[in-house]
Amino acid sequence: MFTLHGPFSGIATMANLPLRGPLADAQIDVLPNAGLLIDAYGTIAEIGPYHRLKAAHPQAALDERAAGMLALPGFIDCHTHICFAGSRVNDFALRIAGSSYLAIAQAGGGIWSTVTQTRAATQAELVQGIVQRAQRHLADGITTIEVKSGYGLSISQELKMLRAIQQAGQATNSPTLVPTCLAAHTMPKDFAGDAPQYLKHILSELLPTVRAEKLASRVDIFIEKSAFSPAEGQYYLAEATKLGFQLTAHADQFTAGSALVAIEAGALSADHLEASDAAAIAALGQSSTAAVALPGASLGLGEPFAPARALLDAGAILAIASDWNPGSAPMGALVAQASVLATYQKLSCAEVIAGLTYRAAHALGMAQIGYLAIGQKADYQAYPCKDFREIVYEQGSLKPSFVFHHRQATT
Ligand code: NIG
Ligand code: FE
Repeated sequence: MFTLHGPFSGIATMANLPLRGPLADAQIDVLPNAGLLIDAYGTIAEIGPYHRLKAAHPQAALDERAAGMLALPGFIDCHTHICFAGSRVNDFALRIAGSSYLAIAQAGGGIWSTVTQTRAATQAELVQGIVQRAQRHLADGITTIEVKSGYGLSISQELKMLRAIQQAGQATNSPTLVPTCLAAHTMPKDFAGDAPQYLKHILSELLPTVRAEKLASRVDIFIEKSAFSPAEGQYYLAEATKLGFQLTAHADQFTAGSALVAIEAGALSADHLEASDAAAIAALGQSSTAAVALPGASLGLGEPFAPARALLDAGAILAIASDWNPGSAPMGALVAQASVLATYQKLSCAEVIAGLTYRAAHALGMAQIGYLAIGQKADYQAYPCKDFREIVYEQGSLKPSFVFHHRQATT
């Protein structure tokens, strides 16, 4: 059973574009008067001129809900912490009164404050929070969301978070949720031992269960003064690789040096990069480790943006994500943040859309999403405009009129 979607005024497929480096708006091809033929599994069976597809598939059902609109791949938010409970409004008030993120963390606020609030929540309450945030993202055209644990910081509490993420992602109307174990977010204040002992504890007591229960196939670590050292990061990432996990790291947020650790470990991505120096930029320019800019954290903390322009000019694979979390990035509005990053870092509209689609898919190691082509998952969104640049130009206030997640084809 096939369904023909369209006719769209155009489809910006984002297919066959360079994975790395600068991208000009003129490189984005828009297929005019096009349609998408989607099979019962939500896979794209054909893509091309609407009238040709309609004539070739007279039995196909028609879905005209996005007729006349501009279609493009669903966006991918490849770095979030949307599994949490409570609020960090007190941290925020302290920061705008002049205190720093690191000083607040050292004084007992920061990540630990969310750990306390998240530990007090039930799994069902966490699920509810994730679903609410995921639905808001879906309405903004985001069809895939990476979600980290990292506010549990004990075996049972990290498992509670990962199970909540899994449960939220199983709801039929959910966007795709990609779980990541961030048990190495910061040192838990109640762990009887030092950082190397805590990391060993996670490696031997948590990650095997995470794998056995298929709760996550990715592992993340925050390498920073308030969290884990580069040497600890190197050790942990190497051991997690041996256990079969894919890697990512919070790197170069305030201190340069850890992006190189992520690259050397073979991580899929190094995220943050606000403090990256010339050596990190040059290395990411040559590496298959994606560079993930998190403008929402810069806006939340009043810190500089990651050097996105320099990274692209060096040849990096630049993705853009929201970092949505209660501490450094409470806003969560991915398209607005990416558009603001573009104005400060002088990114083309094409570079922004690429960073939210196929380049973000690369950062997650996911081959079946991020562009629209035969055999790809039919995650798409449709806007009431003719020119894809309008999406970046309106800085997040132009919303998609229609969002389709491939799972809808099967329900
Ligand atoms: O990506 N930098 C570390 N982790 C998060 C912040 C988490 C928090 O402050 O709760 C981040 O910014
Ligand atoms: Fe983060």
